[in-house]
Amino acid sequence: MSGLSRGAPDKVKIKVRGDGSPLATTQSEVDHQEEERAKAEAARSAAGRASNTELFERARQVLPGGVNSPVRAMRQVGLDPVFIESAEGSEVIDRDGRRYLDWVGSWGPMILGHTDPEILEAIDAAAARGTSFGAATEAEVELGEEVASRIPSVEMIRMTSSGTEAAMTAARLARAVTGREVLVKFAGAYHGHSDGLLAEAGSGVATHGVPSGPGIPAAQAAGTVVVPWNDREAVSEALRTHDVAAVFAEPVAANMGVVPPEEGYLEFLRAATSEAGSLLVFDEVITGFRVARGGAQELYGINPDLTVMGKIIGGGLPAAAVGGPRELMERLSPAGDVYQAGTLSGNPLAVAAGLATLRRLDHEAYERLGALTDRLVAGLTNLADEHNLTVASAPGLVTLFFSALPVKDFAGAMGTDRDRHAAFYRAMLERGIWLPPSQFEAWFVSLAQDEIQIDRTLMAAAEALAATDPARKIG
Ligand SMILES: Cc1ncc(COP(=O)(O)O)c(C=O)c1O
Repeated sequence: MSGLSRGAPDKVKIKVRGDGSPLATTQSEVDHQEEERAKAEAARSAAGRASNTELFERARQVLPGGVNSPVRAMRQVGLDPVFIESAEGSEVIDRDGRRYLDWVGSWGPMILGHTDPEILEAIDAAAARGTSFGAATEAEVELGEEVASRIPSVEMIRMTSSGTEAAMTAARLARAVTGREVLVKFAGAYHGHSDGLLAEAGSGVATHGVPSGPGIPAAQAAGTVVVPWNDREAVSEALRTHDVAAVFAEPVAANMGVVPPEEGYLEFLRAATSEAGSLLVFDEVITGFRVARGGAQELYGINPDLTVMGKIIGGGLPAAAVGGPRELMERLSPAGDVYQAGTLSGNPLAVAAGLATLRRLDHEAYERLGALTDRLVAGLTNLADEHNLTVASAPGLVTLFFSALPVKDFAGAMGTDRDRHAAFYRAMLERGIWLPPSQFEAWFVSLAQDEIQIDRTLMAAAEALAATDPARKIG
């Protein structure tokens, strides 16, 4: 089967297919389905199309590891990457036409689901006017106004093409504003792959067990102090013992799995940074426009000095931004002396998709996203109780931790049972459920999903957990 060539134990009885129809339960039905699959494979070969395995072989010749971003490789769950052909609404569809219910949503941007007609129309209309000018456009102003109207601490934005660049820009701006150099970040937080912010990062870095060191100049690494998330004393000490330009935080950590701030922790960060004369930077690349209309800062009522945004702001096309009050933002060139630039920054297609997406994300949309998340969390929590696991969530974000103890920081996330997670992942994929292939990532809820799909996911999860729980497994 596509994508399941390496290390996937085939111990799981399949009962639900990707398209939701019941799967075989008897051996003859299983045989029949395998026959059908073989026929489809033969038809594809006859048509000259490479199988998933063949394509991966080709990919490995021209793309390191066969992919353009590490977590897609699926190594951590013992699989080869599944090549996706298309997507529609709440589903992604692989090269063999297999449909999966998508809980990844391109890692966050697809909050409205895939191929939303209004978003496609906005992109089409923008494309018809020209795909890139390298010049100012009215739509960029509109997007700036939209963001400023949503996020309390943001008066101005500077757009970039990726969250990495936006976080890098926030770091440079913070250093320029404070005249200090040291950055504080949290272990397991991810702020993109720039030198100074990669130390002890979560997400793909943690997933692949890659030390953040190689290729990063010692001086850059030394300029970053890493402290445990939800730890007050460690932050206080870092602020006391270093000249800290900025503390970078994902206000709801989501790259070590979802780990919300403990009660009062964001308030503490705000007060401690202000007292130390350091800036507080919220990286809302994941939480922004997702956990609330104005991001986590609205949800928790804490205003950072600078905000890093990405993902949803581009509506599925490459766009990100750093934002903050005029006083800080006007240090950026050409208004100020801190250089920052980008050929494709504020690209018309990305701005059109982002603007059309944000305009759809009104009060009702967040109510619905919250209700969908609650339903998923309630169901998963029941299963978690049964299997000695834990669930963590924020609106639109969920992680099932393979740990009996609640996870409050990166050390806790590293203490989860990743083999068990991998087995669960494979069992879910078999059932047509597309989850992030890493224990350190969030499931992203989208508005294209509905109650039936959530229940289908929970039914699959119940089966997958029963089949892979070492305490339950028979034979
Ligand atoms: C919180 C956070 N910050 C920054 C980034 C980097 O964004 P990009 O992948 O667009 O460079 C990510 C990516 O997932 C992220 O989750």
